[in-house]
Amino acid sequence: MKIKTDAPFDMIVIGASGDLAQRKLLPALYFLHKHGDLSPTGRIIGVARHEWTQDEFLRTAEASCRKYLDQGDFSDDDWSSFARRLHYLALAATEPESYADLARLLAQDGEDAERRARIFYLATPPDLYGSISHAIAAAGLITSGARIVLEKPIGSDLDSAAAINASVGEVFPEDRIYRIDHYLGKETVQNLMALRFGNALFEPMWRSEHVDHVQITVAETLGVEGRGAYYDQSGALRDMVQNHLLQLLCLVAMEPPSRLAQDAIREEKIKVLRSLRPIEGEDLARKTVRGQYREGAIAGQSVVGYLEEPDTDPASGTETFVALKAEVDNWRWAGVPFYLRTGKRMGHRVSEIIIQFRRVPHLLFTDQANAIQDNRLVIRLQPDESIKLALMIKTPGAGMALRRVHLNLNMAETFEERPALAYERLLMDVIRGNATLFMHRTEVEEAWRWIDTILEGWEARGDRPRYYNAGTWGPPESIALVVRDERAWYEHLV
Ligand code: BG6
Repeated sequence: MKIKTDAPFDMIVIGASGDLAQRKLLPALYFLHKHGDLSPTGRIIGVARHEWTQDEFLRTAEASCRKYLDQGDFSDDDWSSFARRLHYLALAATEPESYADLARLLAQDGEDAERRARIFYLATPPDLYGSISHAIAAAGLITSGARIVLEKPIGSDLDSAAAINASVGEVFPEDRIYRIDHYLGKETVQNLMALRFGNALFEPMWRSEHVDHVQITVAETLGVEGRGAYYDQSGALRDMVQNHLLQLLCLVAMEPPSRLAQDAIREEKIKVLRSLRPIEGEDLARKTVRGQYREGAIAGQSVVGYLEEPDTDPASGTETFVALKAEVDNWRWAGVPFYLRTGKRMGHRVSEIIIQFRRVPHLLFTDQANAIQDNRLVIRLQPDESIKLALMIKTPGAGMALRRVHLNLNMAETFEERPALAYERLLMDVIRGNATLFMHRTEVEEAWRWIDTILEGWEARGDRPRYYNAGTWGPPESIALVVRDERAWYEHLV
């Protein structure tokens, strides 16, 4: 189903010269335009400190769209009509007096201004979120249809996140604040809800009586890609686990919400976050692994180690890989480990959720005890989205030989529609005013509370990351994390 909106809007992208705006937001908006999903009067106004002219901005935006969209998705005609929506203004976003030109441009709609959705998209460092919100308010730009979009990371720990939330909350009410986690915009992530709650089949099985364990892997082949300065202060736990992986864990573990409404879903996710058992003390060594990549090769190309990346500290102790054993202390999940793992410069780019079911309770095929493999549901988010269910069946012919086969639902083969980019979907939801796929302030803070305990524990222990060669699956300790429980990571299981 295609979602369009006739809602007139002004989307003000603050930080329009930055990596996020150029790499993700502008290409996604271009797509929405190209497919006719945006109101014809919708405007996109880039602002940043850069003293660019309108032409310079357009040239940069065009180059980014060409670079980050697949060949064939970009056309000169679509670009020139898209470019008519684009405006650029140089301004210092934390200074209210700097907003005069923007105020003039926005006022061009006269009385209509109150009816238009006015969206402030903050693609800036998070420590500016509070002061930018206050500057927008002081410049008198908050209309009844105004909303603000905040990119992750919201803060770098619980205290800084709470301070940002409080400061932005002084200006925008919670229901006007859209905290983005772009993983929630991914098609297969949303499919997780469809799979769980649109089928009678899985829900009765979705609990500790039947599930042995869950694995969530988000492996990237990319390194820090020019973001060394940010990344070195952050690391994989803050950059990926606090948000993307914990959101995935919440969607797997949450109870069925009463409705498909934003509050109902968020409440269930918050309950999961509050049920996460803190990892502290002796458990840190057993249940967490930090890694950092050294030089190696990705797809036959040699790449430098993390310490040689531009803008990282040559003695940095920042982790580029993390593996964890998380436990959800509630009735449904008691005793079921959730193994989480993410890393940069790994052997393959793959994001997957594995639900490993328990062994059959009674072995009928005694002569084939070794052939029996437990059922497994593999939800692949990227690349090549798919949902696979591993089952045992009898091989054709005489006798009773069993073999494992897969029921395989490949999204690209099953549906003709092109799946929307995560940002396309989320930007559309902001314009439509639907916050279901965005995070509530409490979600962000509860996730930080759990992460902070780990960060503090590492700090207290003086923990340093283990090395792994670029192009591998992380340090050997990560294998030990699951082998200790007599289990294995999925790539060793297939
Ligand atoms: C971002 C992280 O949130 O997600 C990046 O800051 C990471 O470090 C990216 O590369 C991964 O997103 P995706 O959609 O490519 O899996």
